[in-house]
Amino acid sequence: MATYVPPARTENPYLPLGDHRNAPFYGKDILSVRQFSREDLDYIFGVAKEMHAMVERVGTFDLLKGKILANLFYEPSTRTSSSFTSAMERLGGSVIPINEVRYSSVSKGESLPDTVRTLECYADVIVLRHPEVGASALAAKYARKPIINAGDGVGEHPTQALLDLFTILSELKRVNGLTVTMLGDLKYGRTVHSLARLLSLYEVRINYVSPEILRMPEEVKKELSEKGIPQAEYETLDEVLPETDVLYVTRVQKERFSDLNEYESVKHAYVITPETMTRAKDEMIVMHPLPRVGEISMEVDEDPRAAYFRQMEYGLYVRMALLAMVLGKA
Ligand code: ASP
Ligand code: CP
Repeated sequence: MATYVPPARTENPYLPLGDHRNAPFYGKDILSVRQFSREDLDYIFGVAKEMHAMVERVGTFDLLKGKILANLFYEPSTRTSSSFTSAMERLGGSVIPINEVRYSSVSKGESLPDTVRTLECYADVIVLRHPEVGASALAAKYARKPIINAGDGVGEHPTQALLDLFTILSELKRVNGLTVTMLGDLKYGRTVHSLARLLSLYEVRINYVSPEILRMPEEVKKELSEKGIPQAEYETLDEVLPETDVLYVTRVQKERFSDLNEYESVKHAYVITPETMTRAKDEMIVMHPLPRVGEISMEVDEDPRAAYFRQMEYGLYVRMALLAMVLGKA
Protein backbone atom coordinates (compact mmCIF):
# COMPACT_ATOMS: atom_id res chain seq x y z
CA MET A 1 0.00 0.00 0.00
CA ALA A 2 1.36 3.47 -0.85
CA THR A 3 2.30 5.83 1.96
CA TYR A 4 -0.03 8.77 2.43
CA VAL A 5 1.61 12.06 1.41
CA PRO A 6 -0.53 15.15 2.11
CA PRO A 7 -1.06 17.16 -1.08
CA ALA A 8 -0.10 20.84 -1.31
CA ARG A 9 -2.54 23.17 0.47
CA THR A 10 -4.71 25.54 -1.57
CA GLU A 11 -6.67 28.60 -0.51
CA ASN A 12 -9.80 26.49 0.13
CA PRO A 13 -10.93 26.48 3.78
CA TYR A 14 -11.02 22.70 4.11
CA LEU A 15 -9.32 20.53 6.63
CA PRO A 16 -6.51 18.24 5.55
CA LEU A 17 -7.17 14.52 5.41
CA GLY A 18 -6.53 12.76 8.69
CA ASP A 19 -8.48 12.22 11.87
CA HIS A 20 -11.19 14.86 12.35
CA ARG A 21 -13.85 13.50 14.63
CA ASN A 22 -15.00 17.02 15.48
CA ALA A 23 -15.39 17.86 11.78
CA PRO A 24 -18.83 19.08 10.70
CA PHE A 25 -19.89 15.96 8.77
CA TYR A 26 -18.61 13.28 11.13
CA GLY A 27 -21.40 10.78 11.81
CA LYS A 28 -23.92 12.79 9.75
CA ASP A 29 -26.48 11.48 7.28
CA ILE A 30 -26.59 12.87 3.73
CA LEU A 31 -30.27 12.91 2.88
CA SER A 32 -31.06 16.07 0.92
CA VAL A 33 -29.15 18.91 -0.68
CA ARG A 34 -31.24 21.22 1.50
CA GLN A 35 -28.87 20.40 4.36
CA PHE A 36 -25.89 22.12 2.68
CA SER A 37 -24.66 25.70 2.91
CA ARG A 38 -22.21 27.39 0.52
CA GLU A 39 -19.46 26.88 3.11
CA ASP A 40 -20.27 23.15 3.23
CA LEU A 41 -19.94 22.96 -0.54
CA ASP A 42 -16.57 24.72 -0.54
CA TYR A 43 -15.43 22.25 2.10
CA ILE A 44 -16.73 19.16 0.24
CA PHE A 45 -15.23 20.28 -3.08
CA GLY A 46 -11.94 21.08 -1.37
CA VAL A 47 -11.75 17.53 -0.03
CA ALA A 48 -12.84 16.14 -3.42
CA LYS A 49 -9.94 18.00 -5.05
CA GLU A 50 -7.57 16.39 -2.55
CA MET A 51 -9.05 13.00 -3.38
CA HIS A 52 -8.50 13.63 -7.09
CA ALA A 53 -4.87 14.57 -6.44
CA MET A 54 -4.37 11.47 -4.29
CA VAL A 55 -5.94 9.12 -6.83
CA GLU A 56 -3.65 10.55 -9.51
CA ARG A 57 -0.63 10.30 -7.25
CA VAL A 58 -1.10 6.91 -5.57
CA GLY A 59 -4.39 5.39 -6.80
CA THR A 60 -5.38 3.76 -3.52
CA PHE A 61 -4.51 4.74 0.03
CA ASP A 62 -5.37 3.77 3.58
CA LEU A 63 -7.52 6.60 4.94
CA LEU A 64 -10.53 4.34 5.63
CA LYS A 65 -8.68 1.10 6.26
CA GLY A 66 -10.83 -1.20 8.37
CA LYS A 67 -14.07 0.69 7.59
CA ILE A 68 -16.97 -1.04 5.88
CA LEU A 69 -19.66 0.39 3.62
CA ALA A 70 -23.00 -1.36 3.00
CA ASN A 71 -24.32 -0.57 -0.49
CA LEU A 72 -28.08 -1.21 -0.23
CA PHE A 73 -29.79 -0.79 -3.61
CA TYR A 74 -33.51 -1.48 -4.07
CA GLU A 75 -33.35 0.00 -7.59
CA PRO A 76 -30.93 -0.59 -10.48
CA SER A 77 -27.68 1.35 -10.60
CA THR A 78 -24.37 1.24 -12.42
CA ARG A 79 -22.62 4.52 -11.61
CA THR A 80 -23.75 5.24 -8.06
CA SER A 81 -23.21 1.75 -6.72
CA SER A 82 -19.91 1.15 -8.49
CA SER A 83 -18.49 4.61 -7.77
CA PHE A 84 -19.27 4.23 -4.06
CA THR A 85 -17.61 0.81 -4.15
CA SER A 86 -14.60 2.21 -5.95
CA ALA A 87 -14.49 5.21 -3.58
CA MET A 88 -14.49 2.96 -0.50
CA GLU A 89 -11.88 0.60 -1.93
CA ARG A 90 -9.60 3.42 -3.11
CA LEU A 91 -9.68 4.67 0.48
CA GLY A 92 -8.64 1.25 1.76
CA GLY A 93 -12.06 0.22 3.08
CA SER A 94 -14.36 -2.59 2.01
CA VAL A 95 -17.95 -3.01 0.84
CA ILE A 96 -20.97 -5.24 1.52
CA PRO A 97 -22.82 -5.16 -1.81
CA ILE A 98 -26.59 -5.65 -1.77
CA ASN A 99 -27.20 -4.64 -5.33
CA GLU A 100 -30.30 -6.69 -5.87
CA VAL A 101 -32.47 -6.83 -2.77
CA ARG A 102 -34.40 -9.68 -4.43
CA TYR A 103 -31.72 -12.02 -3.11
CA SER A 104 -31.74 -10.54 0.39
CA SER A 105 -34.24 -11.00 3.20
CA VAL A 106 -36.15 -8.01 1.82
CA SER A 107 -37.81 -10.60 -0.46
CA LYS A 108 -39.04 -12.41 2.70
CA GLY A 109 -40.79 -9.21 3.71
CA GLU A 110 -38.18 -7.57 5.95
CA SER A 111 -38.87 -3.87 6.51
CA LEU A 112 -36.48 -1.05 5.63
CA PRO A 113 -35.92 -0.11 9.32
CA ASP A 114 -35.02 -3.73 10.17
CA THR A 115 -32.79 -4.06 7.10
CA VAL A 116 -30.74 -0.98 8.00
CA ARG A 117 -30.59 -2.03 11.66
CA THR A 118 -29.16 -5.32 10.43
CA LEU A 119 -26.58 -3.80 8.11
CA GLU A 120 -25.31 -1.32 10.66
CA CYS A 121 -24.25 -4.25 12.84
CA TYR A 122 -21.73 -5.06 10.13
CA ALA A 123 -20.98 -1.75 8.42
CA ASP A 124 -19.92 1.80 9.40
CA VAL A 125 -21.97 3.65 6.76
CA ILE A 126 -24.94 2.70 4.55
CA VAL A 127 -25.57 3.97 1.02
CA LEU A 128 -29.25 3.51 0.17
CA ARG A 129 -31.19 3.71 -3.11
CA HIS A 130 -34.92 3.10 -2.81
CA PRO A 131 -38.02 3.70 -4.98
CA GLU A 132 -39.93 5.68 -2.33
CA VAL A 133 -39.55 9.38 -1.58
CA GLY A 134 -38.34 9.80 2.00
CA ALA A 135 -36.96 6.25 2.31
CA SER A 136 -33.49 7.51 3.29
CA ALA A 137 -34.94 9.81 5.92
CA LEU A 138 -36.92 6.87 7.31
CA ALA A 139 -33.80 4.69 7.32
CA ALA A 140 -31.86 7.46 9.08
CA LYS A 141 -34.50 7.61 11.79
CA TYR A 142 -33.76 4.03 12.74
CA ALA A 143 -30.03 3.81 12.02
CA ARG A 144 -27.25 4.90 14.36
CA LYS A 145 -24.70 4.88 11.54
CA PRO A 146 -24.68 7.47 8.71
CA ILE A 147 -27.13 6.94 5.85
CA ILE A 148 -26.26 8.37 2.42
CA ASN A 149 -29.21 8.87 0.07
CA ALA A 150 -28.32 7.42 -3.34
CA GLY A 151 -31.72 8.30 -4.82
CA ASP A 152 -35.15 8.10 -3.14
CA GLY A 153 -37.75 7.59 -5.87
CA VAL A 154 -38.66 10.86 -7.55
CA GLY A 155 -37.37 12.78 -4.51
CA GLU A 156 -33.67 13.58 -4.46
CA HIS A 157 -30.25 12.32 -5.49
CA PRO A 158 -28.01 14.56 -3.39
CA THR A 159 -24.64 12.97 -4.10
CA GLN A 160 -25.37 13.26 -7.84
CA ALA A 161 -26.12 16.98 -7.43
CA LEU A 162 -22.86 17.45 -5.53
CA LEU A 163 -20.91 15.75 -8.30
CA ASP A 164 -22.84 17.76 -10.90
CA LEU A 165 -21.88 21.01 -9.23
CA PHE A 166 -18.29 19.83 -8.84
CA THR A 167 -18.31 19.10 -12.58
CA ILE A 168 -19.56 22.60 -13.41
CA LEU A 169 -16.92 24.18 -11.19
CA SER A 170 -14.13 22.00 -12.54
CA GLU A 171 -15.09 22.52 -16.18
CA LEU A 172 -16.23 26.17 -16.25
CA LYS A 173 -14.34 27.43 -13.15
CA ARG A 174 -17.37 29.26 -11.75
CA VAL A 175 -21.07 28.89 -11.00
CA ASN A 176 -22.13 32.50 -10.37
CA GLY A 177 -23.36 34.19 -13.52
CA LEU A 178 -24.11 30.97 -15.43
CA THR A 179 -27.30 30.10 -17.30
CA VAL A 180 -28.23 26.47 -16.68
CA THR A 181 -30.81 24.81 -18.93
CA MET A 182 -32.39 21.58 -17.66
CA LEU A 183 -33.95 19.49 -20.40
CA GLY A 184 -36.20 16.43 -20.48
CA ASP A 185 -38.06 14.75 -17.64
CA LEU A 186 -38.06 17.43 -14.96
CA LYS A 187 -41.09 15.95 -13.21
CA TYR A 188 -39.71 12.54 -12.29
CA GLY A 189 -35.96 13.24 -12.59
CA ARG A 190 -34.62 13.31 -9.04
CA THR A 191 -31.21 14.57 -10.17
CA VAL A 192 -32.67 17.85 -11.42
CA HIS A 193 -34.73 18.28 -8.24
CA SER A 194 -31.52 18.13 -6.22
CA LEU A 195 -29.38 20.12 -8.67
CA ALA A 196 -31.87 23.00 -8.97
CA ARG A 197 -31.98 23.30 -5.17
CA LEU A 198 -28.20 23.23 -4.87
CA LEU A 199 -27.77 25.83 -7.62
CA SER A 200 -30.04 28.16 -5.65
CA LEU A 201 -27.08 28.76 -3.32
CA TYR A 202 -25.43 30.63 -6.24
CA GLU A 203 -26.37 33.47 -8.59
CA VAL A 204 -27.63 31.57 -11.61
CA ARG A 205 -30.45 31.68 -14.14
CA ILE A 206 -32.30 28.43 -14.73
CA ASN A 207 -34.30 27.44 -17.81
CA TYR A 208 -36.57 24.41 -17.67
CA VAL A 209 -37.28 22.78 -21.04
CA SER A 210 -39.73 19.88 -20.96
CA PRO A 211 -42.95 18.54 -22.44
CA GLU A 212 -46.01 20.02 -20.71
CA ILE A 213 -46.61 16.81 -18.71
CA LEU A 214 -43.02 16.61 -17.40
CA ARG A 215 -42.56 20.09 -15.95
CA MET A 216 -40.43 20.83 -12.89
CA PRO A 217 -42.57 20.34 -9.73
CA GLU A 218 -44.13 23.53 -8.30
CA GLU A 219 -42.55 22.77 -4.92
CA VAL A 220 -39.03 23.02 -6.35
CA LYS A 221 -39.80 26.16 -8.38
CA LYS A 222 -41.31 27.81 -5.32
CA GLU A 223 -38.24 27.06 -3.21
CA LEU A 224 -36.04 28.65 -5.86
CA SER A 225 -38.21 31.73 -6.35
CA GLU A 226 -38.14 32.33 -2.60
CA LYS A 227 -34.37 32.54 -2.99
CA GLY A 228 -34.71 34.99 -5.89
CA ILE A 229 -33.48 32.64 -8.62
CA PRO A 230 -34.73 33.66 -12.09
CA GLN A 231 -36.47 30.65 -13.65
CA ALA A 232 -38.27 30.27 -17.00
CA GLU A 233 -40.12 27.38 -18.62
CA TYR A 234 -40.13 26.34 -22.29
CA GLU A 235 -41.23 23.43 -24.41
CA THR A 236 -38.46 23.74 -27.00
CA LEU A 237 -34.74 24.23 -26.62
CA ASP A 238 -34.25 26.59 -29.58
CA GLU A 239 -34.97 29.82 -27.77
CA VAL A 240 -32.61 29.22 -24.84
CA LEU A 241 -29.79 27.18 -26.36
CA PRO A 242 -27.69 30.17 -27.55
CA GLU A 243 -27.55 31.66 -24.02
CA THR A 244 -26.95 28.34 -22.22
CA ASP A 245 -23.69 27.70 -20.34
CA VAL A 246 -24.69 24.31 -18.93
CA LEU A 247 -27.12 22.10 -20.83
CA TYR A 248 -28.25 19.40 -18.37
CA VAL A 249 -30.01 16.64 -20.32
CA THR A 250 -32.10 13.96 -18.59
CA ARG A 251 -33.68 10.62 -19.49
CA VAL A 252 -37.46 10.28 -19.53
CA GLN A 253 -37.93 8.09 -16.44
CA LYS A 254 -39.97 5.24 -17.94
CA GLU A 255 -40.13 3.36 -14.62
CA ARG A 256 -42.11 6.21 -12.97
CA PHE A 257 -45.02 6.30 -15.46
CA SER A 258 -48.25 4.55 -14.52
CA ASP A 259 -49.53 4.97 -18.09
CA LEU A 260 -47.04 3.64 -20.64
CA ASN A 261 -48.90 5.36 -23.50
CA GLU A 262 -48.05 8.63 -21.83
CA TYR A 263 -44.39 7.59 -21.74
CA GLU A 264 -44.52 6.66 -25.43
CA SER A 265 -45.85 10.12 -26.25
CA VAL A 266 -42.86 11.91 -24.71
CA LYS A 267 -39.98 9.42 -24.84
CA HIS A 268 -38.31 11.00 -27.87
CA ALA A 269 -39.24 14.59 -27.04
CA TYR A 270 -35.64 15.84 -27.35
CA VAL A 271 -32.51 14.51 -29.01
CA ILE A 272 -29.21 16.42 -28.89
CA THR A 273 -27.25 15.94 -32.13
CA PRO A 274 -24.12 17.52 -33.65
CA GLU A 275 -26.50 19.88 -35.46
CA THR A 276 -27.91 21.04 -32.09
CA MET A 277 -24.38 21.72 -30.92
CA THR A 278 -23.75 24.12 -33.84
CA ARG A 279 -26.26 26.47 -32.20
CA ALA A 280 -24.67 26.30 -28.73
CA LYS A 281 -21.92 28.55 -27.34
CA ASP A 282 -18.32 27.57 -27.97
CA GLU A 283 -17.68 27.67 -24.26
CA MET A 284 -20.43 25.63 -22.63
CA ILE A 285 -20.87 22.06 -21.41
CA VAL A 286 -23.42 19.32 -21.97
CA MET A 287 -24.09 17.19 -18.90
CA HIS A 288 -26.26 14.12 -18.27
CA PRO A 289 -26.49 12.05 -15.07
CA LEU A 290 -26.70 8.93 -17.31
CA PRO A 291 -27.81 6.36 -18.33
CA ARG A 292 -28.88 7.92 -21.65
CA VAL A 293 -31.42 6.16 -23.81
CA GLY A 294 -31.34 8.25 -26.97
CA GLU A 295 -31.50 11.86 -25.67
CA ILE A 296 -27.93 12.58 -26.77
CA SER A 297 -26.73 11.00 -30.00
CA MET A 298 -23.40 9.18 -29.81
CA GLU A 299 -21.87 11.54 -32.40
CA VAL A 300 -21.98 14.29 -29.76
CA ASP A 301 -19.52 12.31 -27.60
CA GLU A 302 -16.55 13.57 -29.64
CA ASP A 303 -17.49 17.22 -29.02
CA PRO A 304 -15.17 18.67 -26.34
CA ARG A 305 -18.24 20.32 -24.79
CA ALA A 306 -19.71 16.87 -24.01
CA ALA A 307 -18.85 16.60 -20.31
CA TYR A 308 -21.02 13.62 -19.31
CA PHE A 309 -18.26 11.01 -19.23
CA ARG A 310 -15.93 13.33 -17.30
CA GLN A 311 -18.90 14.00 -14.97
CA MET A 312 -18.89 10.31 -13.92
CA GLU A 313 -15.23 10.51 -12.98
CA TYR A 314 -15.76 13.65 -10.88
CA GLY A 315 -18.35 11.56 -9.02
CA LEU A 316 -15.68 9.23 -7.73
CA TYR A 317 -13.78 12.08 -6.04
CA VAL A 318 -16.91 13.61 -4.54
CA ARG A 319 -18.02 10.24 -3.14
CA MET A 320 -14.54 9.58 -1.72
CA ALA A 321 -14.77 12.98 -0.01
CA LEU A 322 -18.22 12.26 1.42
CA LEU A 323 -17.21 8.87 2.80
CA ALA A 324 -14.06 10.29 4.40
CA MET A 325 -16.08 13.14 5.88
CA VAL A 326 -18.94 11.14 7.42
CA LEU A 327 -16.42 8.68 8.82
CA GLY A 328 -14.44 11.46 10.52
CA LYS A 329 -11.33 11.40 8.33
CA ALA A 330 -11.65 14.74 6.54
N1 ASP B 1 -29.11 7.61 -12.73
C1 ASP B 1 -29.93 8.73 -12.39
C2 ASP B 1 -30.88 8.36 -11.26
O1 ASP B 1 -30.81 7.27 -10.74
C3 ASP B 1 -30.62 9.29 -13.58
C4 ASP B 1 -31.46 8.30 -14.36
O2 ASP B 1 -31.60 7.14 -13.98
O3 ASP B 1 -31.99 8.73 -15.40
O4 ASP B 1 -31.67 9.19 -10.89
N1 CP C 1 -26.37 8.77 -12.38
C1 CP C 1 -26.78 7.66 -11.74
O1 CP C 1 -27.32 7.70 -10.62
O2 CP C 1 -26.50 6.51 -12.40
P1 CP C 1 -26.93 5.05 -11.91
O3 CP C 1 -28.44 5.03 -11.91
O4 CP C 1 -26.33 4.12 -12.93
O5 CP C 1 -26.40 4.84 -10.53
